[in-house]
Amino acid sequence: MQADELTALFDQQAKDYDARWSRTAPIRTCLHLLLESFFSTLPSHAQLLCVGAGTGAEVAYLAERMPHWRFTVVEPSGAMLEKCRLRAEAEGFASRCQLHHGYLDQLPQGVAFDAATCFLVSQFMLDQDQRRRFFESIGRRLKPGGLLASSDLSADTQSPDYATLLAAWMSMMGRAQLSEIDIANLREAYAKDVAIVAPGELEVLIKNAGFSSVVGFFQAGLMRAWCSRWQS
Ligand SMILES: C[S@@+](CC[C@H](N)C(=O)[O-])C[C@H]1O[C@@H](n2cnc3c(N)ncnc32)[C@H](O)[C@@H]1O
Repeated sequence: MQADELTALFDQQAKDYDARWSRTAPIRTCLHLLLESFFSTLPSHAQLLCVGAGTGAEVAYLAERMPHWRFTVVEPSGAMLEKCRLRAEAEGFASRCQLHHGYLDQLPQGVAFDAATCFLVSQFMLDQDQRRRFFESIGRRLKPGGLLASSDLSADTQSPDYATLLAAWMSMMGRAQLSEIDIANLREAYAKDVAIVAPGELEVLIKNAGFSSVVGFFQAGLMRAWCSRWQS
């Protein structure tokens, strides 16, 4: 899927995005809980870069717990970003958020960030070198030693276990109130539009982008997350 098609898809989904995924909240909450502990060494006035923050779930979680952190949100979908803006206003952290409508390479150079989040974004890059360069472009916005927390759908699709994992994931999606048609579309999209690569492969890719200490800290079904450190 081309970038503009992906943005159009998220523009279309923004209205119902949070409701649609609300039943999977326990997965997100667990991820965010662990994220918080991986980011616990950051300074009290840390500057965070949140790439592809969508409607702002990870930003809201961190902003509530870290009252002095400031967030730069990068999001190409105007409709998703608008949801994020409304949430920031409703939850009282808008004054600590800078919202950038567009891609990271269009974000004006500014402060170097203490840490970045990039949840469920890089998986849409089918070209793995583009994906590596994307992580590298995040790293270049960080201070030396800055942290990256990233999550993506990841599995060894060649493994005999994959079919079992995929079926369980789809079944969980079914319980998340997706219709049969939604699930069929997702199944097709996973095969065609999402680069589900094996965890080890993704770890090497993050390392090759310039990060060290790549630690896998979370897995729930097909979703995995890593924390890593920018070494340049
Ligand atoms: C699956 S959503 C995840 C949203 C949020 N991070 C979360 O975990 O709930 C992916 C988001 O990434 C955005 N996105 C897609 N490609 C991107 C890119 N190249 N750079 C930044 N954001 C991107 C989409 O517009 C969408 O809002």
